[in-house]
Amino acid sequence: MSGDTSPLLRVDDLVVDYRLARGVRFRALKGVSITVGAGECVGLVGESGSGKSTLGRALLGLAPVESGKVTFDGQDITHAKGTARRKLANDIQVVFQDPYGSLDPTMTVEEILAEPLEVTGTSKKQARAVVAEMLDRVRLPGDAVHRYPSEFSGGQRQRIAIARALVRRPRLIVCDEPVSALDLTTQATILDLFIDLQRETGVAYLFISHDLGVVRRVCHRTSVMYQGEIVESGHTRAVTEEPDHPYTRRLLLAAPVADPARQAERRAAWLGLRDSA
Ligand SMILES: Nc1ncnc2c1ncn2[C@@H]1O[C@H](COP(=O)(O)OP(=O)(O)OP(=O)(O)O)[C@@H](O)[C@H]1O
Ligand SMILES: [Mg+2]
Repeated sequence: MSGDTSPLLRVDDLVVDYRLARGVRFRALKGVSITVGAGECVGLVGESGSGKSTLGRALLGLAPVESGKVTFDGQDITHAKGTARRKLANDIQVVFQDPYGSLDPTMTVEEILAEPLEVTGTSKKQARAVVAEMLDRVRLPGDAVHRYPSEFSGGQRQRIAIARALVRRPRLIVCDEPVSALDLTTQATILDLFIDLQRETGVAYLFISHDLGVVRRVCHRTSVMYQGEIVESGHTRAVTEEPDHPYTRRLLLAAPVADPARQAERRAAWLGLRDSA
């Protein structure tokens, strides 16, 4: 711990350029700043292609950072590589949308969860205890250990992916659309799991979603991204209920609501907005 009140994660004026064919560059992040406090959940919303995953990748050292700075627990990690980057894997983990793609189908759940521990020299016996603890944390039965990812439902697979992210006891998890592939009921139970895990472990989340309803459920603060820039940030309630920026208003109006009459109203308003945009 740094011992002061500085945030766990701090991103300052980050610029990311992808290099395309024939020397062309595409600026995917145009000076993005965001903070995540210890134990906090910060939402990042925006339409497809706005740069959300690029920001997530930049935190993991996987995006071509042109300028700006990423600070984690007071340390400049913008260009951390090799051993320094590997050490960061204990502190910063990631959960993706599609747990199928990120879970090796040839490994049992026990092997999947124990692997990151064995890399760091944990004994088999200790690893088994941690695996049991993590399965319990994500509410999966203990006998899941000998099964393969394909033998689980989508929601259960996402629980396995979350357990694997938790194994190294990270302080921050970048969640990139972690419930987008799940049906609504399963989404709700997984979102509640994220909230419970945060209470139990104090882990912080950068929670990427295109869905305002999702961030409303789990995030303390939310930033809205539009074409590589953050156009609005604040307490989730303020951002999602009384947005200042026209783009956020449009996102909000496009989000589904439970009441069909209100949904129709919103849809009409959204169409009106879109026409006048
Ligand atoms: N490896 C890459 N090379 C070139 N351009 C890229 C690369 N990855 C992403 N981009 C471009 O950068 C922009 C931001 O992409 P990014 O994946 O960060 O968006 P996103 O907000 O996560 O979208 P989605 O909601 O669809 O996941 C897009 O225009 C995308 O085409
Ligand atoms: Mg993305």
